[in-house]
Amino acid sequence: MTQPAFTPRVFSGIKPSGGLTLGNYLGAIKRFVDMQKGDCDTLYCVVDMHAVTVWQDPQDLRNATREVAAGFIASGIDPEQSILFNQSRVSAHAELGWLFNCVARVGWMNRMTQFKDKAGKNAEAVSLGLYAYPSLMAADILAYHATHVPVGEDQKQHVELTRDIANKFNHDYKVDFFPQAEPIIEGPATRVMNLRDGTKKMSKSGESDMERINMTDDADKIAKKFKKAKTDPEPLPDNMKDLESRPEARNLVNIYAALSDQSNEAVITEYAGAGWGKFKPALADLAVAKLSPISSEMSRLMADPAEIDRIMSKGAEKANEIAQPILKQAYEIMGFVR
Ligand code: TYM
Repeated sequence: MTQPAFTPRVFSGIKPSGGLTLGNYLGAIKRFVDMQKGDCDTLYCVVDMHAVTVWQDPQDLRNATREVAAGFIASGIDPEQSILFNQSRVSAHAELGWLFNCVARVGWMNRMTQFKDKAGKNAEAVSLGLYAYPSLMAADILAYHATHVPVGEDQKQHVELTRDIANKFNHDYKVDFFPQAEPIIEGPATRVMNLRDGTKKMSKSGESDMERINMTDDADKIAKKFKKAKTDPEPLPDNMKDLESRPEARNLVNIYAALSDQSNEAVITEYAGAGWGKFKPALADLAVAKLSPISSEMSRLMADPAEIDRIMSKGAEKANEIAQPILKQAYEIMGFVR
């Protein structure tokens, strides 16, 4: 089936479950800001309906939703230029999500590694929503006919599943209706690792706060966390290949590269032969210089939650204008009497 020309459109989302980390910033938000500078529409969503696939205290969910929106804006997402909103305000996500539950196959869901990791041995007791999560994510993307989806590496499989769902829908109904969305996974920090164990991803839910940098950490905390970050006794080599078996060292170089908008090769060339006593303080200073203005702006925005809500509500109206006609056509294609 040939793909009709879809207008390029960017969509991505972040779950408001816990605070934002440096992984979210470098793997996602910073890249969203870069993509906003391009020519196409950009939609950025606080995916609150994804958050409740695991229990969220209602007040925590409200705070986290506003905090993610504040994080977007403080990092440079301009609500006049991008459509910024929270998912539950646009009902097309849930509606199309249901239609896709009837397109996606159980076998596809069973292959999702993130579900297996999250459910662990407890798979019988997790919510049905956690299992169906990737089909709601496909709806997020396809409700806008989005073609480009900037994400960190951990979301690649979900975007690939979105392509499978689009393909099956198009095939089953003999249409060229949904585009093949492409995951955009670029730059040196598409998988920021845990500061205490370079083989694990940095995540909001890790056990110890020392494992991650939170976007709201102050300068002292950032410096302390990088100082205590696990490394090895060797100095830095002069090329990235020599870091292949040194995950913690590689992670810190990648973080430095992403924060300073350089390639990791450029960073390793600059710091070749340097010990951690030199590299870690330089990294901490760089992180503080980049993150402090963002965290102060986030605090300023969080002091006025009504303004954040107004911005998300306005964004939702614009999102709805795009999603409703697409949803309507999907219903018609499937034979619903409307
Ligand atoms: P979430 O909320 O877990 O993470 C949001 C974004 O941050 C990226 N990310 C990372 N990147 C690099 N290193 C890390 N350690 C790291 N941790 C998180 C994620 O890859 C993601 O891009 N299912 C998604 C949210 C979602 C979505 C969507 C994304 C729902 N619908 C539609 C794109 C399009 C999630 O849970 O991301």
